Amino acid sequence: MFGKEEGTMNLKIGVIKGDGIGPEIVTEAMKVLDKTAARYNHTIEYTQLLMGGASIDVNGIPLTDETVASAKACDAVLLGSIGGDAKTSPWYQLEPSKRPEAGLLKIRKELNLFANLRPAVLYDELKGACPLKEEITDGGFDMMIMRELTGGLYFGDRKTVCEDGVMTAYDSLTYNENEIRRIAKRGFDIAMKRRKKVTSVDKANVLDSSRLWRKIVEEVAADYPEVTLTHMLVDNCAMQLVKDPRQFDVILTENMFGDILSDEASMVTGSIGMLASASLNETKFGLYEPSGGSAPDIAGKGIANPIATILSAAMMLRYSFDLDEEADVIEAAVGEVLKKGYRTIDIMSEGKTQVGTAGMGDLICSFI
Ligand code: IPM
Ligand code: MG
Repeated sequence: MFGKEEGTMNLKIGVIKGDGIGPEIVTEAMKVLDKTAARYNHTIEYTQLLMGGASIDVNGIPLTDETVASAKACDAVLLGSIGGDAKTSPWYQLEPSKRPEAGLLKIRKELNLFANLRPAVLYDELKGACPLKEEITDGGFDMMIMRELTGGLYFGDRKTVCEDGVMTAYDSLTYNENEIRRIAKRGFDIAMKRRKKVTSVDKANVLDSSRLWRKIVEEVAADYPEVTLTHMLVDNCAMQLVKDPRQFDVILTENMFGDILSDEASMVTGSIGMLASASLNETKFGLYEPSGGSAPDIAGKGIANPIATILSAAMMLRYSFDLDEEADVIEAAVGEVLKKGYRTIDIMSEGKTQVGTAGMGDLICSFI
């Protein structure tokens, strides 16, 4: 991965443009990556990969084994978004295991991407978009949701059967101690680089899997004496996120709870088009994607906000390539563009200058 010249690298990046607004927003992130690589004398080798609806259209299934192998051969993968409108798209006429989302679940499992990092940050410039009262968010908030991504309900046995003439569906929620331990360690490691606070979220008043979760998280916490650990029940956490989001630093939680809480947390920032995410395994490999969906209603219009994808590319440089300075430069460029008053339509407010997807990408490049 290292280039000939000292400090320069050849980055092998898999690119899944995906469906909906995916291709537009990924194109802008690639522009920003190219500009950054040029400034620091790195080279980038992109491998285009098909997943989701785009793969169904070509291969009949949302992710082929060949694509998984190609992804594994890269150092990291940048993903736009997958999926379409479930009411109108023919992809959703297929059986569940062949729909776009199944591709996403398969790549998570096959690449062992168990640690999903979802930051939810209130940007000072975008405070106006936050749906919470100002006295609640005064001073801003900055939390990291650490969601377990390859276990629990998403990957347990499931079936739908007819029992004594009654249709019955089963989904099983299983965690073993090793799965809990490895995600907990990641959560505490991240907390050590932040404000040293972990809120572990579970439903230990009802579920056995949550009681084991709590026990193992406490064991891991013993190795991190500087980190303050709090346990919180998931229903309470859902309330606390809107009551006082400033109390959170790292939220550590299992797959399903993390899915729900991360949508809630992104909503309270008011600007989901700004939020990046990373899914990591035991190595430096990671899959990086914006937190928002494929937004089929605005696909192809050139108005989607590419910032979340651009910030995901910055996360990639930081976590998969240890290029912290390069990542800082991208994040600072995003900050500059916002400070200068440029906005895509989703974060537009009075007195600001509205730009499109490509315009936003170009502006960010101009500050790199
Ligand atoms: C997410 C999404 C996925 C999930 C869906 C598309 C399967 O909601 O990444 O949060 O539930 O994990
Ligand atoms: Mg989700």
